[in-house]
Amino acid sequence: MSLKEIIKTAKTLVADDKGLLAIDESTVTCNKRFAESGIPQTEEFRRTYREMIITTPDLGKCISGIILYDETIRQKKKDGTLFVKAITDAGIIPGIKVDIGAKDMAGHRREKITEGLDGLRDRLREYFQMGARFAKWRAVITIGNGIPSRGCIEANAQALARYAALCQEAGLVPIVEPEVLMNGEHTMEQCFEVTEEVLRTVFNQLYIQRVTLEGMILKPNMVLPGLTCPKQESVEAVADVTVECLLRAVPAAVPGIAFLSGGQSGELASARLNAMNVRFKSLLPWALAFSFARAIQQPALEIWHGEEANVSAAQQALYHRASCNRVARRGGYTSLMEKTQNDNM
Ligand code: G3H
Repeated sequence: MSLKEIIKTAKTLVADDKGLLAIDESTVTCNKRFAESGIPQTEEFRRTYREMIITTPDLGKCISGIILYDETIRQKKKDGTLFVKAITDAGIIPGIKVDIGAKDMAGHRREKITEGLDGLRDRLREYFQMGARFAKWRAVITIGNGIPSRGCIEANAQALARYAALCQEAGLVPIVEPEVLMNGEHTMEQCFEVTEEVLRTVFNQLYIQRVTLEGMILKPNMVLPGLTCPKQESVEAVADVTVECLLRAVPAAVPGIAFLSGGQSGELASARLNAMNVRFKSLLPWALAFSFARAIQQPALEIWHGEEANVSAAQQALYHRASCNRVARRGGYTSLMEKTQNDNM
């Protein structure tokens, strides 16, 4: 796969008003979400759930790429069609999460380092042969008393850059995800400071590792106050500081920024993305898109509840969230969209 094609895929992933849907929860995380909703935690239930998502009618109108997990990319629909084929047939590009998780970092109490570089070249080759055209690697940075440390930021940034270089060698677009977590009492200003430092470090490492910026997508957090910070902020304030931070740290050569949702409600994630596009879209060098998991899936998961009879209603809920985010990319989202959905359910 030539660099030209990688760049084309990156552009397609953030083209028009579409975005990415992450269904790449590890088995442990997926089981945890199932347990919270009282759904049995078996491979067959995980398969059925993912089949429900990828067969949502018209999903390709809102979603350009779906991020899968190692178990999921090998799975098939009940009728025997490989998920990868079903996704491609729906006009959506299949992607794959390739990190193997954030582990406790030696010498850095309360901090994590994402692992998965060993053997990655071979795994990427296999995923490409299976039909994946992009990949994802998530680093997590925690804000707290005395953290994040420089050591944690640098180690994670270097791993992200080495992963990205290997992806481009294998013909895959790297989705580079340095997530500054929402957990904690920190203010929006503290999140700004940390996010800026993390992004500057990541782009410095991407340069050192010779990653072609035109052939990657950045998947960052929005700049937000911590979940337990007493001072929460307006949608507009979040939009302003998030774009200010990104303008400082993200080179114009990057084709698109696809935010993670990180635990925000679906409605807030859509409203904040919308506000950024309303206020800044025509002034920005990159597209502002979405790559949400929970902020698209959560209502559908609750409605589905593991029961065949609920599939159609769950798919409608999933499509609704995906379409709210599609409209948010154009700057046309309003809370009225939520009311119409509730009236239709
Ligand atoms: O790595 C995390 C997912 O791809 C995004 O998940 O939108 O629930 O934060 P989230």
